[in-house]
Amino acid sequence: MGKLLLIFIITFTLCDVLKACVTANTDVHIESNLNNLVLHCKSKDNDLGNVTRNAGEEFDIHFCADFWGRSVFSCEFYWESKHQDFIVYESKHPEYCDEKDDYGSYKTDCYWKVQEDGFYFPQYFEPEPNTWFKKYDWE
Ligand SMILES: *[C@@H]1O[C@H](CO)[C@@H](O)[C@H](O)[C@H]1NC(C)=O
Repeated sequence: MGKLLLIFIITFTLCDVLKACVTANTDVHIESNLNNLVLHCKSKDNDLGNVTRNAGEEFDIHFCADFWGRSVFSCEFYWESKHQDFIVYESKHPEYCDEKDDYGSYKTDCYWKVQEDGFYFPQYFEPEPNTWFKKYDWE
């Protein structure tokens, strides 16, 4: 009987966390304006490995934001002889993110654009991301 109760509690907790996941779907869109841009993005639990993008292509990180708001994704970027790495998503600093409440279903979209002179995020999100600000230079 005690075991059954434990299973019930674990299942209930899991469902609760999964539900939170559905209401906090997050996409980080990283658009490349460069050919042969190599990205390596990871969180504490997820290593997405090296991927290559050409000009006009996008790399999307799709994940369920941590229920407690602790999700963090960082990426390393390589292009020609240049390199940079920074946090592309952290729930506490979503200046580059747009959160939509679609009748109680939350969806967060975050945007970065990678160019020859650095890394940009948009100030406005409607009707599409626009008015891009430079946040980082290449190293
Ligand atoms: C990822 O790409 C970078 C830059 O090309 C390279 O230095 C690194 O070794 C690669 N890592 C892996 C695991 O392939």
